Amino acid sequence: MIGTAGNGVRIAITGIGAYAPERVLTNSELATIVDTTDEWIVERTGIRERRIAAPDQAMTDLALPAAQQALEQAGVPADAVDYIVVATVTPDAMFPTTSALLADMLGARDAAAYDLLAGCTGFMYAIAQAYAMVASGLSERALVVGGDILSKIIDWRDRATCVLFGDGAGAVVLERVDHGGFLGFELGADGAGGKHLTLPAGGSRLPASAETVAQEQHFVRMDGREVFKFATRVLVSSAEKVLAECGRSVEDVDVYIPHQANVRIIDHAAKKLGVPRDRVVVNVDRYGNTSSGSIPLALADAAAEGRLEPGSLVLMTGMGAGLTWGSALIEWSALGGKPQQAPERIG
Ligand code: COA
Repeated sequence: MIGTAGNGVRIAITGIGAYAPERVLTNSELATIVDTTDEWIVERTGIRERRIAAPDQAMTDLALPAAQQALEQAGVPADAVDYIVVATVTPDAMFPTTSALLADMLGARDAAAYDLLAGCTGFMYAIAQAYAMVASGLSERALVVGGDILSKIIDWRDRATCVLFGDGAGAVVLERVDHGGFLGFELGADGAGGKHLTLPAGGSRLPASAETVAQEQHFVRMDGREVFKFATRVLVSSAEKVLAECGRSVEDVDVYIPHQANVRIIDHAAKKLGVPRDRVVVNVDRYGNTSSGSIPLALADAAAEGRLEPGSLVLMTGMGAGLTWGSALIEWSALGGKPQQAPERIG
């Protein structure tokens, strides 16, 4: 699926928030749990440490502070938000949805709220949906959260996966603006490759049972080499497609935010695309792969470092389980906004 923003409608990100749990797990500490070394992890992935949620922290506990920060920056009161989507593969529970719980915690009364599952690409799918909702006029102000607590579905004895992932969440507010905003999106999926990155049990194919638990089928299973090949391919092809569709070239890109899975994947994509390293946002060294939290956390870092100037062209590309991928191209506009009156509600 590919398309450009049209009809003179401009929708932009007006607030960004992020939250990562306090607990830092270093590579050296991991080496005391599984047969690995700091050197191996750094050389093969670029990851040095990751954040791990506390046993009593669930997805809403990460989403709430990120969402509050994004709303505050946008100057949008929670009850002025009419649409909330949380992209995650680790919801508090399958239902009630994490987004509905979050709406209640925020005080976003009567907002439409649902969760979205698209693996690590969830945030990209969610901002495309929120864009469409606001562009169509169905929503006035949308809140999008991307985040995961993969530490709770990782096999901590499997060194091939447990070194890669971390926990975290980010949030953005989408509204109509006068200047800049989203220029286009490209999204896709390849279910034939889905077998390379799975959570086998707990769904309708393999409902949770004593047997699935005994067989440890509630943990992430991954063929790292296949996912690596897929990732390096789609990060490049998706970015090229969205740039071409929007009539822009890679030289126009000021800030490139790829999914933070592995620094080797990021370097490969940046080199193949021709994006200079100083335009690439990298924080995988500090957070590991936070799945749906990865791109909004990197976006928040870029904003905190003053790298998002109004007028800058920002390219984001995610990829992950499904297999799925997605890109967005944005002409950056100023964050923040005038404090807005909550729309009057009846009843
Ligand atoms: N520490 C030490 N050795 C490890 C290890 C670890 N944590 N994990 C794997 N190894 C070993 C393997 O067992 C293998 O040993 P062998 O040669 O004796 O069999 C060796 O290291 C090389 O393994 P390989 O799988 O070829 O490594 P790699 O260079 O492909 O890197 C990944 C492995 C997982 C880092 C890499 O494939 C990758 O990043 N894939 C993409 C994963 C991803 O991004 N998933 C999420 C997408 S959203």
